[in-house]
Amino acid sequence: MQGVADFDQIVAQTIGAGDWRLLINGDWCESASGATFPVENPATGQILAHVPDAGTSETTAAIEAAYAALPAWSAMPANGRAEILRKVAALMLERRDYLATLMTLEQGKPLSEARGEITYAASFLTWFAGEAERIYGQIVPASVANKRILVLRQAVGVAVMITPWNFPAAMLTRKLGPALAAGCTAICKPAEQTPLSAIALGKLFMEAGLPDGVLNILTCQDPVPFSETIFADDRVRKISFTGSTEVGKLLIAKSAAGVKRLSLELGGNAPFIVFEDADLPAAVRGAVISKFRNAGQTCVCANRIFVQRAIYEQFADLFTQEVRQLNVGNGLLPHVHVGPLIDLPARQKVERHISDALAQGAQIRLGGSAAELVGTSTFWQPTVLSSAKADMLVAREETFGPVAPLIAFDDEDEVLHAANATQYGLAAYFFTRDLSRVFRVAERLEYGIIGVNDGLPSVAQAPFGGVKQSGLGREGGSVGIDEYLEIKYLSLGI
Ligand code: SIN
Repeated sequence: MQGVADFDQIVAQTIGAGDWRLLINGDWCESASGATFPVENPATGQILAHVPDAGTSETTAAIEAAYAALPAWSAMPANGRAEILRKVAALMLERRDYLATLMTLEQGKPLSEARGEITYAASFLTWFAGEAERIYGQIVPASVANKRILVLRQAVGVAVMITPWNFPAAMLTRKLGPALAAGCTAICKPAEQTPLSAIALGKLFMEAGLPDGVLNILTCQDPVPFSETIFADDRVRKISFTGSTEVGKLLIAKSAAGVKRLSLELGGNAPFIVFEDADLPAAVRGAVISKFRNAGQTCVCANRIFVQRAIYEQFADLFTQEVRQLNVGNGLLPHVHVGPLIDLPARQKVERHISDALAQGAQIRLGGSAAELVGTSTFWQPTVLSSAKADMLVAREETFGPVAPLIAFDDEDEVLHAANATQYGLAAYFFTRDLSRVFRVAERLEYGIIGVNDGLPSVAQAPFGGVKQSGLGREGGSVGIDEYLEIKYLSLGI
């Protein structure tokens, strides 16, 4: 097993090699005040690096740079923008091991998952490089002979991206890919827990020849001066945010004054439904990947697992057996499947959900407590709860941790009602072999993403986003670029 000395060496090689600064107008710089904040490894508590703490003046400088770079970048022929995106994707894949190690250090996810995320992140750049070349307009028949009607699609302008800690690379490229492809210039603010991956990616964009000012990266400990500055500045036309519904609502309110365009990818409370006619081993595998990927810290992860009563015990046994195989630990270790939770509040939420469930009659089939390991106290044993009910906290709120509540149901109507009884509508999953049921259930689920016999539906070429309080707009797919384009109508007298 890898020892502490090996970990130190990995940290020294990965972090020591970096130069963790802000990117403004092509310059890598400190904050004007010299203030910094620490970035911690959630697995060990070790401080990995200090990054500049950007505030109002750095945000204003980034807006100025992005605004100045906009005319030339948006006028660059689409294949020029696409070429740069493809170059960055190639560099990401070439440096995948380094980027993945960096991600595991600052975020905690197992190295194999981090490698997968780098590939996933690069795929957004490749996909949107193609979409840059397909920003088609329209010629519409006019109502009179001496007119022509043209519809153009043009870059929105300066776009701001606020990205979360759970996917430090993929959520950045899922926003940056379409923004840059459309001809927007960008200001990125990565989550304060995971700024190093964003900075490392920023270096690749510059290495690939992105012109100065097109991409600016600000690391901020306190998001308030940053957000006040961007909302107050009319040059910022678009904000894309991935994070909690609570913050999303604040952004909606704040964007009213400047009527800025918003894309929001917010919270979820995904139902995962296993019908009695499902392929059971496939449903178990789907539930494990959906629930325990990134230690349950994804917006699309199965939060409530509904199992039809006739197969409940059989599913619970098979599922528990599979989950028992998952090893918890430092994500750098090769045999680890579940890393630490991001921080102590995340662990406290998991504890709160489990104690509420137990107080209301749920039973622990597996786990249920912290994993006592060397490092921080944020390692949690993969947990399976049976006899869970839809009104328990664990099923009403997004747990964002490795806890799987199994809820029994009797019929399709009952489970659809329970599945839709939430303010969220991001992802839902169901397993069945009945083709008619596939359409019936998929059409009635009030969700933006439906995995049918599939626990992992996210891909660059498909639209990702939610309904109800899970957000606005879609990322990825052929529609993802529309979030960064304005439509302009030209009425031409001839
Ligand atoms: C998320 O959790 O927000 C993203 C998950 C994914 O892209 O699959």
